[in-house]
Amino acid sequence: MKKRIAIITGASGGIGRAFTRLMLSEDIDEIWAIARSKEKLLVLQADFGAKVIAISKDLAHSAGLDALSGRLKAEAPVVAYLINNAGIAQMGDSKDFPAEVIETSVFINCCTPAVLCSMCIPYMERGSRILNISSVASFQPLPNLNLYAASKVFLRSYSRSLHWELKPLGITSTAVCPGWVDTELLKKEVNGKRIKFPGIVSPKKVAAKALRDAKKGRDMSVCTLFAKWEHLMAKLIPQRLYMGLWVLVSKPYR
Ligand SMILES: NC(=O)c1ccc[n+]([C@@H]2O[C@H](COP(=O)([O-])OP(=O)(O)OC[C@H]3O[C@@H](n4cnc5c(N)ncnc54)[C@H](OP(=O)(O)O)[C@@H]3O)[C@@H](O)[C@H]2O)c1
Repeated sequence: MKKRIAIITGASGGIGRAFTRLMLSEDIDEIWAIARSKEKLLVLQADFGAKVIAISKDLAHSAGLDALSGRLKAEAPVVAYLINNAGIAQMGDSKDFPAEVIETSVFINCCTPAVLCSMCIPYMERGSRILNISSVASFQPLPNLNLYAASKVFLRSYSRSLHWELKPLGITSTAVCPGWVDTELLKKEVNGKRIKFPGIVSPKKVAAKALRDAKKGRDMSVCTLFAKWEHLMAKLIPQRLYMGLWVLVSKPYR
């Protein structure tokens, strides 16, 4: 019988770590936990046990994805879960981002999840689930966070349409759109100022809600109530006004 696996990118910290913990209670033989830092992955393995297979790869380059593709071909498992979680956020003035930073951001936030979906779908079966970690930043353009927000628009749109494409196969794809989550991703200080993140929530809560929504067959998961309110406001308030408000609120940190 084929082994059943969960693939989690960015598993070593924040939301990815919370998903790894949740996967321990699923009908899974192996959790392929992917991130760059081998040390952090070994800590994850030590904390969560031998089900966790530490795979140290840089997913911001096609070489990392090719290696994973080779492993899938060699082991031919059933991919029960693909959790596209690895992502990076660039905050600041667009003029300060060198081409390399822009390329890496777009690659890891957009190309990597799309490539992994295409790569894993042939190994999926009815009931398999894809979770793509987008963000509330995808609900409207955000000045000074524009690269990140735009990349998350791609992922939300890609993920939701994939859900409908995969319906006949019984595979779900859920775009997970959390608000601020208490992880390393959020630089706590910008220009020497501690940023206040309204409605900040734990990675555990986001991952648990996302998994529940995926199991219900939802194409989107928005956590928390505050993020749902932001979603509603993004629909009701003209984007020009929303961006103006964002510029005002983020002014102290620029
Ligand atoms: N925190 C928030 O407020 C928030 C809100 C909405 C959405 N999100 C999204 O949630 C996802 C997870 O974010 P997080 O907050 O949990 O961030 P985090 O704590 O910084 O964790 C990011 C994870 O991604 C891995 N990673 C980063 N670059 C990688 C690369 N090139 N190749 C392979 N792995 C890589 C990191 O491990 P290594 O550094 O060892 O590679 C780490 O395991 C992201 O997609 C983020 O955009 C976060």
